[in-house]
Amino acid sequence: MILQRRNRILRQSPAIRAMVAETLVKPSDFIAPLFIDEGQNTATEIASMPGYYRRSVDLTVKEVKELWSMGIRCVLLFIKCKDELKDNTGKEAWNRNGLMQRSIRAIKDAVPEMVVMTDVALDPYSSYGHDGIVKNNEILNDETVEALVKMSISHAQAGADFVAPSDMMDGRIGAIRNGLEEENFTKTGIMSYSAKYASCFYGPFRDALDSAPGFGDKKTYQMDPANRLEAVKETMIDVEEGADIVMVKPAMAYLDIIREIKNSVEVPVSAYQVSGEYAMIKAAAKMGWLNEEKAIIECLTSIKRAGADLVATYFAKDAVKLMN
Ligand code: PBG
Repeated sequence: MILQRRNRILRQSPAIRAMVAETLVKPSDFIAPLFIDEGQNTATEIASMPGYYRRSVDLTVKEVKELWSMGIRCVLLFIKCKDELKDNTGKEAWNRNGLMQRSIRAIKDAVPEMVVMTDVALDPYSSYGHDGIVKNNEILNDETVEALVKMSISHAQAGADFVAPSDMMDGRIGAIRNGLEEENFTKTGIMSYSAKYASCFYGPFRDALDSAPGFGDKKTYQMDPANRLEAVKETMIDVEEGADIVMVKPAMAYLDIIREIKNSVEVPVSAYQVSGEYAMIKAAAKMGWLNEEKAIIECLTSIKRAGADLVATYFAKDAVKLMN
């Protein structure tokens, strides 16, 4: 054959492939989610997330030091609230001495440069397991937003660098921004879970925090997986309201949305490779059905290629080890 174009020329050796690789995943791209529990010196493996742990504050601090030493620059905190502290108002969420607030302080004391993000949503604190205040089986928007503002301010007071509202109530980004301004937290950022879908892939996470909804589902606030334009609308509104970073969640089943958002807004875009995505790879690897290490790198590279600047992933540590 006489060919004008031989595309395989650029694939013939590792050196050439490295030269022309369009996407590079690096440790500072990662946001490492951490699950925190009461107690001392405890680490509990999450049944549906093999290899991932819920830790007491002291061991969380140790983990953060290790993450920092590996080049990971950001953690995203979630806490497991004791049952007796849960109620419909979620008021434990803004307790100055709550588990979240104590964790933020402990981490910032130990590793001040680590960027600490905190999940802002009522579900771990709600006796109904919903992200908002419930009345007559409905999730109230405006009352919930007031609670989220108090929660955000209390995280900022404890030292959080970014608050990350994951609840999908309307108007919460603007309200949180105003609340932070009024309290003079002019350096606290907002990473909005702006396009968050009502997804089955959150299942293992709800096991980790004991936060499954007690009735119904989250479809009146999280988005319908069928929708694309709605993701753009949600995200643009969050940017207008003052989001510093936006997010698409989950990642793998929504790569088209990540690209759409990347092309639509001028702020950094993050994507969340969620608990179910982690569990799928772990389960298939355990069965010997795919190579875990290759799957991790391929998925993270694909999420970045789709347009994510940052990736929240339970594989952050594994990925850094594999990259070295
Ligand atoms: C809480 C929240 C959830 C996740 C992040 N923040 C669960 C949910 O909305 O039900 C899911 C993360 C994951 O599955 O890894 N609002």
